[in-house]
Amino acid sequence: MLCLIVAVSKNYVIGNKGNIPWKIKGEQKRFKELTTGNTIIMGRRSYDEIGHPLPNRKTILISTTKAVENELCTTAGSLQEALSLVDLTKEDVYVAGGAMLYKEALPLVERMYITHIDLEAEGDTFFPRFNEDDFIKEEDLPMEGEIPYRYTVYRRKTEADRAKEREAEHGSE
Ligand SMILES: NC(=O)c1ccc[n+]([C@@H]2O[C@H](COP(=O)([O-])OP(=O)(O)OC[C@H]3O[C@@H](n4cnc5c(N)ncnc54)[C@H](OP(=O)(O)O)[C@@H]3O)[C@@H](O)[C@H]2O)c1
Repeated sequence: MLCLIVAVSKNYVIGNKGNIPWKIKGEQKRFKELTTGNTIIMGRRSYDEIGHPLPNRKTILISTTKAVENELCTTAGSLQEALSLVDLTKEDVYVAGGAMLYKEALPLVERMYITHIDLEAEGDTFFPRFNEDDFIKEEDLPMEGEIPYRYTVYRRKTEADRAKEREAEHGSE
């Protein structure tokens, strides 16, 4: 399944000058838990911020200017090329930013793991606006931290979900 994982502030900021503009102890635990043993797809600037592939998972770096090939990381020239390297019927693949990649992946992802940070952050990089009506929010878990945050999960609506919604609408007329 193709998934997306991101932490966003209340004003949709995800980055500032190449970095994530907050540090909250424990907040990245879910990222580690979900992506360990799986594949992440990452834009070159986000990769450069970390500086190396993360351990215990596979990274597909998207870049036209940089090539990293080792047992943990491979490089693709586009999101489509990255997707041709994985089997989404057999594994969970997480698009892990940044903004360019999120925008391109948004119409394709089936599940979004969004951590909502309770903060109006200063930043220059934003998560794209998406149509909430395309998704069902399946989880919304408040978490305590130096800055409070919420772990949410959005699942893309299927045809069956749409049919149920139409039925409910007609039933209430
Ligand atoms: N809050 C979060 O959860 C989160 C997560 C990740 C990142 N971030 C933040 O986001 C910021 C970085 O995001 P960004 O949007 O500036 O950069 P990015 O998406 O990480 O990287 C952009 C680069 O990736 C490559 N790329 C992306 N899409 C491509 C495509 N479709 N085809 C070919 N190449 C493609 C290009 O590399 P080349 O120039 O090498 O061709 C492009 O310059 C940082 O501040 C980072 O901290 C936040």
